Amino acid sequence: MASTFTKMLSGRNTAVLLASLGVGTAATGYMLSDNAALSARDRSKLYPPSADFPDLRKHNNCMASALTPAIYAKLRDKKTPGNWTLDQCIQTGVDNPGHPFIKTVGMVAGDEESYEVFADIFDPIILDRHNGYNPKTMKHPTDLDSSKLTNGVFDDRYVLSSRVRTGRSIRGLSLPPACTRAERREVERVVVTALSGLKGDLAGRYYSLGDMTEAEQQRLIDDHFLFDKPVSPLLTCAGMARDWPDARGIWHNNTKTFLIWINEEDHTRVISMEKGGNMKRVFDRFCNGLKQVEHLIQERGWEFMWNKRLGYILTCPSNLGTGLRAGVHVKLPKLSKDPRFNKILENLRLQKRGTGGVDTAAVGDTFDISNNDRLGISEVELVQAVVDGVNYLIECEKRLEKGQDIKVPAPVSHFKK
Ligand SMILES: *[C@@H]1O[C@H](CO)[C@@H](O)[C@H](O)[C@H]1NC(C)=O
Ligand SMILES: *[C@@H]1O[C@H](CO)[C@@H](O)[C@H](O)[C@H]1NC(C)=O
Repeated sequence: MASTFTKMLSGRNTAVLLASLGVGTAATGYMLSDNAALSARDRSKLYPPSADFPDLRKHNNCMASALTPAIYAKLRDKKTPGNWTLDQCIQTGVDNPGHPFIKTVGMVAGDEESYEVFADIFDPIILDRHNGYNPKTMKHPTDLDSSKLTNGVFDDRYVLSSRVRTGRSIRGLSLPPACTRAERREVERVVVTALSGLKGDLAGRYYSLGDMTEAEQQRLIDDHFLFDKPVSPLLTCAGMARDWPDARGIWHNNTKTFLIWINEEDHTRVISMEKGGNMKRVFDRFCNGLKQVEHLIQERGWEFMWNKRLGYILTCPSNLGTGLRAGVHVKLPKLSKDPRFNKILENLRLQKRGTGGVDTAAVGDTFDISNNDRLGISEVELVQAVVDGVNYLIECEKRLEKGQDIKVPAPVSHFKK
């Protein structure tokens, strides 16, 4: 896993070379007219950075809080080796000033190098979004040894389903906001080829969104497995719905408890889930499946984007580190009406969402409860925090049922500084 920056660049160069071979004719046409060759980037350089600085006065996302005219001036004309720019990274945050339920990040990476070339803006956003994790001085731990998890089986009367997900990116290929059609298809090819090597109880099948039959599509919708074309402006403004559904698809094993989404918001999203409260089994399968997929990808000469500073590299800075969201759907009719509910969640470093997705409000008595943190803490520690926290919530619910009082727990420390 200890890959060098050099190796990553050589991976990219190969991909870039392949991509440029494919566009030879277009490039020739482009050379014919010097005027037409003045790209949008070159035109913006006719003006100083101060004239280009976005109007962020009505914004409340992390990018808008961190971006100063000085940082913008320093970074505006820089490019990653894949020619991705600061303006492209921040466009979604400029176009979406705020959101009713969540403080958004307001910025995405176009490639692995974005986080290095534009570190002057990404680092403070990471510090803000990840509760003081300082990417300049701290190191991120990775631990996928699920045997360390304790008390991982919840009371099924309260927990309806358990799920662990993460994302992984293929080093050398641009991320979904920036990738060309050729790169996106390459991601699909690399991952699907690797997955076809899974054997035994992990064996499964890939369903391409473009080629799916009506019946297959309906079956995946009924199982809540299908991901839709992104419609949230947070995603579309980041360029993530381009060319839909080209090179998108879903892989799952026969029992549909281990799934991989391809080319949605990240190159891959890896999901382990099942009905009921057995988080232990869900996490075992997650770690085992993920290790096998990584091994198969490495056998073919590819690797995941990862470094000590930021852990696994993903499109949105909010997912850096583990990329892990371990969550349950849990029924808490009494606790959720208690005025201390939000404080309890906050102190346990848990997040609640509606059961309809990231930007929905919670309805009814059932909540999607998951870890708040992603970076600076290992996978095992994060899942353990969810297990301990959700067990605490269930204890509170039981006490309230019996008419007993509950306590707000002391805040848990989120990582060892
Ligand atoms: C980046 O842009 C430069 C100058 O326009 C060009 O020569 C180079 O091929 C581009 N690189 C990539 C990876 O597109
Ligand atoms: C995949 O499905 C098989 C049944 O076909 C099941 O036994 C196995 O546990 C599943 N594996 C994973 C990793 O979900």
